[in-house]
Amino acid sequence: MNVKTILCRAMRRRSVWLSLMFGAISFASGGLCAQSGSLLLGSAWYPEQWPESRWDQDLRLMEEAHLDVVRVGEFAWSRMEPSQGHYDLDWLERAVRLAEKHHIAVVLGTPTDAPPAWLTAAHPETLRMDATGHLAEHGNRRQFNYANPHYRVYCAEIAEQLARRFGHDPNVIGWQIGNEYSDESFDPETKRQFQDWLKVRFGTLDALNRDWTTAYWSQTYDRWDEIPLPSGGGNPGLLLEHRHFVSDTWRDFQHVQVAAIRKFAEKRQFITTNLGGLGWSDNFDHYEINNELDLASWDDYVGQGHLNVARNGAMHDFVRGWKRANFWVMETQPGFVNWAPVNNALDPGETRAMAWQAVGHGADAVLYWQWRSALNGQEQYHGAIVGPDGEPLPIYPEIARTGGEFERAAKALQGTSPVAQVALLHSYDSRWAIDFQPHNRNYDQLEVLLGYYGTLREQGLTVDVVNATTPLDGYKLVLAPSLNVISAELAARLLAWVERGGSLVLGPRSGMKDEHDSLNVQRQPGPLVDALGGRVEQFYALEAPVPVSGEDGTGTASVWAEQLSAHTDADEVLLHYGKGNGWLDGQPAMISRSVGKGRITYLGAVLDPALMRSVLQRSTRAAHVEPEFGPLPPDVEVCRRVGDGHSIYVLINHGAAVVHAALPSAMHDLLGDGHSLTEVVLDAQGVAVLEADTR
Ligand code: GAL
Repeated sequence: MNVKTILCRAMRRRSVWLSLMFGAISFASGGLCAQSGSLLLGSAWYPEQWPESRWDQDLRLMEEAHLDVVRVGEFAWSRMEPSQGHYDLDWLERAVRLAEKHHIAVVLGTPTDAPPAWLTAAHPETLRMDATGHLAEHGNRRQFNYANPHYRVYCAEIAEQLARRFGHDPNVIGWQIGNEYSDESFDPETKRQFQDWLKVRFGTLDALNRDWTTAYWSQTYDRWDEIPLPSGGGNPGLLLEHRHFVSDTWRDFQHVQVAAIRKFAEKRQFITTNLGGLGWSDNFDHYEINNELDLASWDDYVGQGHLNVARNGAMHDFVRGWKRANFWVMETQPGFVNWAPVNNALDPGETRAMAWQAVGHGADAVLYWQWRSALNGQEQYHGAIVGPDGEPLPIYPEIARTGGEFERAAKALQGTSPVAQVALLHSYDSRWAIDFQPHNRNYDQLEVLLGYYGTLREQGLTVDVVNATTPLDGYKLVLAPSLNVISAELAARLLAWVERGGSLVLGPRSGMKDEHDSLNVQRQPGPLVDALGGRVEQFYALEAPVPVSGEDGTGTASVWAEQLSAHTDADEVLLHYGKGNGWLDGQPAMISRSVGKGRITYLGAVLDPALMRSVLQRSTRAAHVEPEFGPLPPDVEVCRRVGDGHSIYVLINHGAAVVHAALPSAMHDLLGDGHSLTEVVLDAQGVAVLEADTR
């Protein structure tokens, strides 16, 4: 490498760092909208686990790997507050300063996922109780009770101390509250809170008894304190409200810390939390949690096996939907994890491909977990970037390469984000309602969603996955697989959008329930039956596939099939069942009707991939969805980020063979020498990042 190259690199690094310090990541004053900033690569770093004399070497190695950001502190409570009220943040300040010296910005985690022993020993009521009445113990994390008021006071105090000290720190760019909220508590105090919460929600026991149909099995409640805190089965209305209570309780738990930080921190510092559960976990409503955060972030792990391209892409798009904005991957695996049945390593190049997939789907930062494994503690086997000796592991050069590429592409990606013509609707209420009573244990809502998602992605389309209550203007086609809960209010919003010209495709199990998880009396799709001009006469859990055919081809339905009826001449029957379980023979499986300037379609079955492909190709054509890229070889994924006057395309070859991909127009090669290309050659796990002028 010649002197000129080294100087250029140093200047680029410096400009990334300067833009971080002085507001490339900024937040509209008073607003919560994250501007797309530079593209960052980073890692979780735990200086408290190592002698201070080592820190400089760690940070030097990070800088050499082009890492721009570290997340620090999220489990370090016992170092930050060694005994009650005695805070020691000097070491953290020294770590932040040293990071600054290496042009590495810091995200500070509040340590509330791992309370110190002195706290829970003095206040055992702050410990979480599981559903069997067992109190969690010190020595693991997540042992705290999320609903306990004393615990929240301690959390607010430590968050406030951190914010007083670092809220104006030029090298601290943001905050992470806690870590992967997960387990709720079943202690008597939480139960009392649930009952009080229900009182506020329903006002009267009469209303609650009516909405939950408690005449069933003598469930009628005469006093609020008779209502159980469900830990297993129960009345679906009760179960649904418990999920809402859990969501609100986590939100309030978080709010206490957000408020403490906001009091002292500059607005340019974002506040987020890293949501776990591989994105799809549903123990609480993630939209609710993200509402008051500036930025959505999640922890993206593969676990056993290799990248499931569609699933992981769908999760990124789902996370982007939490705030309908670009997001961060706050943790991802450098090669492998320690918690899967078999913790195999990703293939060479796969870690880099994963990082670029995240960016293609709207991530503005990707952070590895973790820099270096603690010498002891529960996660000794987890993948890391440097070894127990502090020297680079075999994955280091791949991460360094990715870091260099992020630097090169950052400027072009700034201010860009994925823009979709098509959205999939998601609703926690619907997910909970179905999972309380799956009816067919093989009905996997994620798989059903991926059946839609994968087919749209095969067409090269950007797909948003958004909350069912989101305003839909701007989309041409909206698909709602498994939208089980459709209240009158939601139906009215959907219908208004359809009348203005939207195309809505409702998938199986849609509209069976109302907002209390009670059956809709119209049958499915509930309040949309009239607009559809048809309905579900009966649903069937399938033991074996049944044939389905129509103009779009022939195939099968499996797991779930609904017998539809069309009531008006205006209804088109797009698919019929063939001879199957007897009840379905010859009956409609998919009906469609134009309404206002738009169209409602109901697809009552889980179709095989080939038939699904042709059915959704018709839907996209009919909705005038425009292609975003030309045809690509089968294993190549394309993601588009749109900016002002230009678009960035990330092409990733997830297959094992070298492929040649023709580009629909000449594009600049951002990872290469910037030349204009009309074709790219991608090795196995190969990535191309291309810029097209759209002016
Ligand atoms: C995450 C967690 C990290 C670490 C990681 C290991 O769920 O937030 O602290 O445990 O898993 O994969």
